[in-house]
Amino acid sequence: MGKGIRKWYVRKDETPTEFEKKMMFYESRGFIVPSRKLIKTPEQIDGIRRSGVVNTGILDMLTQEIKAGMTTEQIDRLVYDYTVSHGAVPAPLNYEGFPKSVCVSINEVVCHGIPSPNVFLKEGDIVNVDVSTILDGYYSDASRMFCIGEISPEKQRLVDVTKECLKIGMEAAKPFGFVGDIGSAIEAHAKKNGYSVVRDLCGHGVGLAFHEEPQVEHFGKPKTGMMLVPGMVFTIEPMINMGKKDVRFSRIDGWTVTTCDGLPSAQWEHTFLMTENGLEILTY
Ligand code: MF3
Ligand code: CO
Repeated sequence: MGKGIRKWYVRKDETPTEFEKKMMFYESRGFIVPSRKLIKTPEQIDGIRRSGVVNTGILDMLTQEIKAGMTTEQIDRLVYDYTVSHGAVPAPLNYEGFPKSVCVSINEVVCHGIPSPNVFLKEGDIVNVDVSTILDGYYSDASRMFCIGEISPEKQRLVDVTKECLKIGMEAAKPFGFVGDIGSAIEAHAKKNGYSVVRDLCGHGVGLAFHEEPQVEHFGKPKTGMMLVPGMVFTIEPMINMGKKDVRFSRIDGWTVTTCDGLPSAQWEHTFLMTENGLEILTY
């Protein structure tokens, strides 16, 4: 009987809704179902949606501003100023000790690059900027790749295929399907293109906190893992390596993740709402 404690039940004197009946049925059949708090209310969805609007505004603003010669610290400043002037808070700032407002990850840096006054963007770099926003207590999370000036065709293909991986993962996510459907689709597309999927970091539930259940791995098997139920909000954020999948966590700053082989890595991320008809992007 699994964990013993059921997630879905109603008091004896209460009539379950059709939705509750469905969840109780799936749970009784042994599926991993989301807990009640992972199913967002319409009010919560509205809050996360508004947070996503600010988050997207930040990324759009950076699209105009980012250029060769600027430091990653300048990007941090732009993000901080835009966020607070829109009544929001940068989610990374002081999150588990992270010292800045945004993650900026260049070339072989996979993710969690810390903005620095000593790191300059240069022609030919591929840069992931990962922006996360708290508005009225609601969290959103998205990242894009920026290409600085002319980049090599090899890097361009990595950036493009990684974006395709996010889209393919999104399309694989069906209501009452499974988290594993997403990872399996992403892994297949990455491998077909000669790339590898980072396994040590994953997507995640988001909305009332920065990182909630479930973990959304970008590899795996179809029909495994938590069931995807309308009302769930989560990210998909594949990190795809040009070379081998192995990554290293910095022992110096405690955050920066780099590829072991020094080859470039790319990442795209959106926050999604599961609906009766599939995923809706909340950070578009
Ligand atoms: N934005 C990252 C994510 O997509 C999390 C970064 S944690 C931080 O989940 F502290 F580095 F910001
Ligand atoms: Co995320």
